[in-house]
Amino acid sequence: MDNPASRTIAVFGAGYIGLVTGACLAELGHRVVVRDIVPAKVEALSRGEVPFHEPGLSELVLGNTERLRFTLDAREALVGAEVAYVCVDTPPTPAGDADLSRVHAVVDDLVSAPHLAAVVVKSTVPIGTGDRIRERLDRAGLSHVGYAANPEFTAEGKAVSDFLHPDRIIVGADDDATADLVADLHRDVDGPVVRMDVHSAELAKLTANALLMTRISFANEIATLCEVTGADIEKVMGVVGMDPRIGPHFLRAGLGWGGSCFPKDGVALKQLASNDGLHLQLLTAVIEVNNLQPRRALQRLKDELGGFGGKRVVMLGMAFKAGTDDMRQAPSAVVASRLLAEGAEVRCWDPLARVTEPEPWARTTRYDDPREALAGAHAAIVVTEWPQLRELDWADVADSMAAPVLFDGRNLLAPAAMRAAGFTYLSVGRS
Ligand code: UGA
Repeated sequence: MDNPASRTIAVFGAGYIGLVTGACLAELGHRVVVRDIVPAKVEALSRGEVPFHEPGLSELVLGNTERLRFTLDAREALVGAEVAYVCVDTPPTPAGDADLSRVHAVVDDLVSAPHLAAVVVKSTVPIGTGDRIRERLDRAGLSHVGYAANPEFTAEGKAVSDFLHPDRIIVGADDDATADLVADLHRDVDGPVVRMDVHSAELAKLTANALLMTRISFANEIATLCEVTGADIEKVMGVVGMDPRIGPHFLRAGLGWGGSCFPKDGVALKQLASNDGLHLQLLTAVIEVNNLQPRRALQRLKDELGGFGGKRVVMLGMAFKAGTDDMRQAPSAVVASRLLAEGAEVRCWDPLARVTEPEPWARTTRYDDPREALAGAHAAIVVTEWPQLRELDWADVADSMAAPVLFDGRNLLAPAAMRAAGFTYLSVGRS
C-alpha cells in the first residue's frame, strides 16, 4: 500500500545502479517508472526478468509490480514524476575522462516535466557535473527544479542490502528544500543521511573508491615483499587490520581489483585532477600496482612451468569477484589473453560469469564442472574467490591432472592442505 510520504519517481537507466535504486525505492513505497533505452532489457524487466545476477533483486522486482514499471519512453517515465533519478553509465572517453553524454541526454529529456521538483544524480560523475547540469536545467526553463548529488556506495552482490541498510546516504544539494526532499525519500532506510554541498558529495564518492583501491594495491605490494622475505601477507594484514584506526576490510592481496567501478573511477579521478594540472602521484602508483598484479602472477606460474607453450591451463573463475556474473574489467580477461598469447590452451570455469565480449573468451573452452576442466591440465589458476572451490576434493583433482600445479590468485585455499593433496601450490604473498 502507498504510504502518505510516497512520491512518484522516474529512474533513468536500468543497469545495476538504476535497477537496484528503482526496485528499492518501490519497496520503500514510492511509485517508480524505470526508463532504459535497450528494448530487450525493458521487455525482460516488464516480464519480471532481471537481466543480471544480483541477490534479492528479482524478489523486489516481482514483489513490487504495483509500484514499479519499465519503459523505453522518457516522456512516459516522467508523467507525474516529482523526482528524476539519473543512473545511466558514465564510461571512460578515449581521454580517460568520464563520458557524461548519457547523463546530459537524460537532463535534456526533463524539459517535458515542468512539474518536477528535483533531479538526483546517482551516476558516478566528476566534480563540477552538478554545476553543468544546473546550468542546463536553468537554460531549459527548469530553474525551479532542485539538484542533488546522491552517489551510490552499493557493491555488486550485496547491492540490495547495501541500499536498504547503508553506512551512509550522501545528499549533496545546494538548497535545503531539495536536500529535505531527497532525505525524505529515504525516511524508512536504515542509515544516516549526511548532507553536504554538491562538490563535496561528488568528490566523496570518487575518494571512497580510490581509498579502497589504495588499500588493495598496498596489500598487494606488501604481499610481494612477503614473497621475497618469507613473511605471510595473511598474518601481516590480519594483525594490521586489528587496529581499529585501520580496520580489516579491503586488505586482501590477490590478482587485483576489477569491475565496473574501480578501474573506471580510478582513471576518472586521476584525469579529473590532471585536467586541472594536478598529478595524483599516489593514485597513479595504485593503478600501476594493480595493472601489474595479474602479470606478476603469470610470470611466477610461467617460471614454475618452464613456459606456457603447449600447456593446458585452467582458469578457475572469470567474474571480477565472487557472487556476481559481471566480467567488466575483470583480471580474468588479462590472464586469459596473456596465457593465449604465450601459447597455452586455456580452459575456464565459472558458475555465473556472463560473457559479453567475444575476446579473448572465444579462444578458450568453458566447462560447467571445474573437475572436468582440471582433468588432464598442466596447471590451474584461481582467478575468482568462488567458495565452492574450497569444497573440491583436491587430492582427487591432483591425480586427474597432467601436472598438479596451482596458482591461487585469491589466497582462497589452505597452502598446507593443498601441498598435502599433492600440489605444487603458489599463492600471493604467503610463505
Ligand atoms: C565498489 C565499492 O566497493 C562500492 O562501495 C561502490 O559503490 C562501487 O564500487 C561503485 O562505485 O559503484 P564493486 O565494484 O561492486 O563495489 O566491488 P568490490 O566488492 O568493491 O570489489 C572490487 C574489486 O576489488 C574486486 O575485483 C575484488 O576482487 C577486489 N578486492 C576487494 C581485492 O582484490 N581485495 C580486497 O581486499 C577487496
